[in-house]
Amino acid sequence: MDFLVIGSGVAGLRAALGMAEHGRVAMLTKGNPLESSSIYAQGGVAVALSEEDDVAIHLRDTLQAGHGLCRREAVRVLVEEGPERIRELIAWGAVFDKVGGQFAFAKEAAHSRSRILRARGDATGNEIVRALMGQARRHKNIQWFEHHFTVDVLVREGVCCGAVVLDESTGTRFAMAAQAVVLATGGIGQVYARTTNPPSATGDGMAMAYRAGAVLEDMEFVQFHPTALFLPSAPPFLLSEAIRGEGGQLRNIKGELFMQRYHQDGALAPRDIVARAIWSEMAATKARHVYLDVTHLSPTFTKQRFPTIYSTCLRYDIDMTEEWIPVSPSAHYIMGGVKTDVHGATTLTGLYAAGEVACSGVHGANRLASNSLLEGLVFGKRAAESAAAWALQRGRATVPKEFLRAAVECPTKPLEDVEKLRSSLRRLLWGRVGVVRSGESLSKAVAQLIRWKHLVYGSFGTRLELEVKNMVEVGLCIAEAALGRDNSVGA
Ligand code: FAD
Ligand code: SIN
Repeated sequence: MDFLVIGSGVAGLRAALGMAEHGRVAMLTKGNPLESSSIYAQGGVAVALSEEDDVAIHLRDTLQAGHGLCRREAVRVLVEEGPERIRELIAWGAVFDKVGGQFAFAKEAAHSRSRILRARGDATGNEIVRALMGQARRHKNIQWFEHHFTVDVLVREGVCCGAVVLDESTGTRFAMAAQAVVLATGGIGQVYARTTNPPSATGDGMAMAYRAGAVLEDMEFVQFHPTALFLPSAPPFLLSEAIRGEGGQLRNIKGELFMQRYHQDGALAPRDIVARAIWSEMAATKARHVYLDVTHLSPTFTKQRFPTIYSTCLRYDIDMTEEWIPVSPSAHYIMGGVKTDVHGATTLTGLYAAGEVACSGVHGANRLASNSLLEGLVFGKRAAESAAAWALQRGRATVPKEFLRAAVECPTKPLEDVEKLRSSLRRLLWGRVGVVRSGESLSKAVAQLIRWKHLVYGSFGTRLELEVKNMVEVGLCIAEAALGRDNSVGA
């Protein structure tokens, strides 16, 4: 193969389409290729395309949300190249919602302009993936390896040259050589007991990059979405920020509107501030949730604007047009990840990264809502271009067969009580490395995670075991990075 792309979310799909113009691409994806955070994205994609907007304003809002810790050059690339990536997506068949023949731009927290494009109300990710997947499935240079779990990237003489892959259906491992590898494995939400992320978000890409010697950055910056459904019987399903953008209000369990006490923008304050305000209200009222209230909006509008959210709530017996929805914060997004430059190159030669797995520097300490789909598109394309340029410069380097054979020869062992370890880890991170952290809680978490890291040392044979190993390693990176930062900033 010329190139490997690991992950079939928005970043991986966009990268694969870019590289397929230069050579043969293997698209490796664990489980069902449609299972990713991308497909669940609701609110939309932020892009400076409306008449009232400008890339300079999008740049300013993004820098402000990032609390001074964004890399300005990366943000400039994001906002300037964003409009072109969206036009390209539309040319590939993505359909965004319009009102009166014009694109409908919505508002979300910390955006000073209405700049969020959406599809089918609250199904933006689904529509973007549909369009990209259609292109990628048709491309003759892209070969799909579905239900193929990437265990590790291969490094030879300091250069990334392929990956070790587990075929989930047969349990066999094999090594694939390539001129360059693009990591697009998404986030880490599953290391927390409460998360909006799908089960696949286990931090695999960060863990394998770290083991291969690449630098991770900003791992302490985890974004907690303020409003995930809180019901004992339901997963923490996301209730989009766009609901507050349309006038939804937050009430504590006494029914009081509380956000004005915390920020002048009320329920549309930056995400980190809303999450912490909810946390404080929950503590003050000794409750495990607050409420999101849209009962003052027209029921017809609510049903049309948020069809997926409305029907999901109804499935759990909540008619959001008539009753308040119980919500609480949940782990949603990680700003940190595998450090890249603005071309998607990591610190390991031959390894590129894009999307949530990467730390391109666009989000700083707090991501501006709806900037990550755009990041996946912009930096997915950029990573593809630099991987292709590297392959050209490198020439046809071959990886010796003995090296590939040796890479899959290491014996595997079972991981005892893997399910219990997974849930204990998720509870530990939620309790000690969550929305509010202290030096003491972090030190305790680090000590426990180090003990678990010894347990997961070695190689394992199943996807579940390998994911838990990655979760322990990434959880430790988050806790150690948080302990290392003794000021409070952003998320
Ligand atoms: P993902 O879309 O998560 O894709 C990762 C891929 O990697 C998957 O295919 C996965 O199976 C694969 N993979 C992982 N590990 C391995 C491995 N070891 N081997 C092989 N394959 C592997 N952002 C916005 O901008 N706007 C929104 O409205 C929005 N709403 C959101 C709503 C929800 C519920 C969630 C969870 C997130 C939302 N986000 C939103 C964030 C955004 O969706 C993600 O940050 C973004 O989609 C990540 O894209 P990605 O391509 O980097 O990763
Ligand atoms: C949401 O719809 O609230 C999620 C948007 C995002 O995470 O960017």
